[in-house]
Amino acid sequence: MKIKVEDIILDSDPRIREKSQDVTLPLSEENKELLQAMFNYVKDSQDDAIAEAEHLQPAVGIAAIQLGVPKKLIAVLVPEKDGVHQVALANPKIISESVQNAYLDGGEGCLSVKDEHPGHVFRHARIKVRGYDLLTDKQTVISASGYFAICLQHEIDHLSGILFYDHINPDDPWMEDEEAIVI
Ligand code: CO
Repeated sequence: MKIKVEDIILDSDPRIREKSQDVTLPLSEENKELLQAMFNYVKDSQDDAIAEAEHLQPAVGIAAIQLGVPKKLIAVLVPEKDGVHQVALANPKIISESVQNAYLDGGEGCLSVKDEHPGHVFRHARIKVRGYDLLTDKQTVISASGYFAICLQHEIDHLSGILFYDHINPDDPWMEDEEAIVI
């Protein structure tokens, strides 16, 4: 199974607002294949040569609902200075979050969103996520901060049908949070 750009649904498709359901563990072969294909899409999309050859839109994460599949499956791959943070999670759940916020200075983007939605998206600066990680074949708790934490929250939001621009203040899109970490 290989995911192509055409397989990704946009926010004009009402399915993007669907709530995703837990998957059974251990993962079925079908769900394993889907989750692995999602991870591979993200990984390949960050390889310039592959992305160009296969017309992949670059991404740091994807959720199954973006393929029209309402299952709690997400893949995230974030290259950062301290190394690559990568997960392919089933049933991810945020079990703790910092009071302090963080946000991307330039705002967020999404494979399912073509229109511009400028503005700050405040996320928790640090989170702990519990879930089953296909990459390590383990039930795990991930402590994430910085860009990785933001990406995880963006993808986990998709499982509730929430898009990044839902978090932007319509009256003051570039509002500041003095306490927040700017990334
Ligand atoms: Co997205």
